[in-house]
Amino acid sequence: MLEDKTTRSFAIGAAAGLTAGLAANAVRKIFVQAPTLAAGEWDDALAAEHQATLKLFDQIQSTEDGHVTRRRLLLTQIGHALAKHAMQEENAVYASLRTHGQVGEADKLNGDHGYVKQYLFELGGMAADHPQFLPKIADFRAMLEEHMREEEEKVFPRLRSVLSEEDNAKLTKAMNLEGLKLA
Ligand SMILES: [Fe+2]
Ligand SMILES: [Fe+2]
Repeated sequence: MLEDKTTRSFAIGAAAGLTAGLAANAVRKIFVQAPTLAAGEWDDALAAEHQATLKLFDQIQSTEDGHVTRRRLLLTQIGHALAKHAMQEENAVYASLRTHGQVGEADKLNGDHGYVKQYLFELGGMAADHPQFLPKIADFRAMLEEHMREEEEKVFPRLRSVLSEEDNAKLTKAMNLEGLKLA
């Protein structure tokens, strides 16, 4: 009897712990996604994420060869930011681009994301105090800035203008849901 009670209270406690864990995870996800949500419509939100990512590049580019731990940490942060960003773009925005006739543009941008992963892979395999570490970061940044310019100045404004106000709002919602998956 006593054992039964103990087992039951343990089960209730574990369930409560699990619920609290899930709630904490949901809160954490919303917290991570908050700046994107706050930035407004999908294209403004993505532009804000571009700026936030470039700030991480500013930080890693101001390190010295001895700052190995800091370089690793910043590279991990860059990787997380870009993974969430890519999920939002590829699963919502680029898909919408193809639906609205910009197939070549979507495929080109999607291809760039493959090279983003290539840079992350190569930098991840390189000693953080290697003399080529910062030059590679600089190449990576140049490639990203070109990609961001193409999105912000050419491709995204065109998509925004062909979508109705309602479809733009739907795309913002779909994009945020994708972001929450990786937040
Ligand atoms: Fe992109
Ligand atoms: Fe982007």
